[in-house]
Amino acid sequence: MKPVDCQPIYRDGRHYDRLNADVVDDIPFYGRLAGAGPILELACGTGRITIPLAQDGHAVTGVDVSASMLRHARDKARAAGVHIRWILADTRALALRARFGLILLPFNSLAHFHDAESIGACLSAARRHLAFDGRFVVDMFNPRFDYLTRQPDERHFVARYEDPDSEEPVLVTESSSYDRASQMMHNRWHFRVGDGAEEVVPLNMRVFFPQELDAIMRCAGFAIEAKYGDYGGTPFSSSAEKQLIVCRRA
Ligand SMILES: C[S@@+](CC[C@H](N)C(=O)[O-])C[C@H]1O[C@@H](n2cnc3c(N)ncnc32)[C@H](O)[C@@H]1O
Repeated sequence: MKPVDCQPIYRDGRHYDRLNADVVDDIPFYGRLAGAGPILELACGTGRITIPLAQDGHAVTGVDVSASMLRHARDKARAAGVHIRWILADTRALALRARFGLILLPFNSLAHFHDAESIGACLSAARRHLAFDGRFVVDMFNPRFDYLTRQPDERHFVARYEDPDSEEPVLVTESSSYDRASQMMHNRWHFRVGDGAEEVVPLNMRVFFPQELDAIMRCAGFAIEAKYGDYGGTPFSSSAEKQLIVCRRA
């Protein structure tokens, strides 16, 4: 199994939250799927989804491999006055004495599992923690050819936000190259704070094609109940931005 390689991009949860301040549409989607049972979010990061679900009265557990992301999540949960069980762990090796009615793997987190063994171990962990009648939800982007065929010298805008320490503007741009054999998108995020020098941080993401992802889910012991193309529940189609898979134990 390949080691986790995404620590550099997640080294400061405050930057993550500011960079993703506009990403909120998925929260009500998960809220609608939540029933009365406990919820487990795999790769929960800073609690962007975990905390609102807890504020809605759900019993939530969040697992992440990044100590810095979890530290920020804990601080935010404390400030919000909600109790969440935070677990610092690699999802692939997760072994809790509990099962959950809803398990989430949101916001392209599956892309951090690069090799077949890692993908299998991640999905097995989800399955062994899923209640008999529970649901597992995966959110992965639907790869677009114009993204995969980017040239390494191209730069694409990612985000602009204010640095949490200095409040100076931060500009984030991306350069990428795609490896068709491994289906890995090798991104480099370029951070520029104010007029300072650029800092380059790698972000390697496994790309999943739609039919491939469905087959992987089935081979991992899941039955696909629904596949949506957006958080509004539009059925998945060729032009969909997202692959939102809701499944149960097969
Ligand atoms: C795109 S962020 C998503 C965070 C959060 N779920 C959200 O929607 O904002 C991906 C997260 O996956 C975590 N991660 C990557 N590999 C992991 C692993 N093997 N086990 C647990 N967490 C992992 C990272 O630390 C990071 O917090």
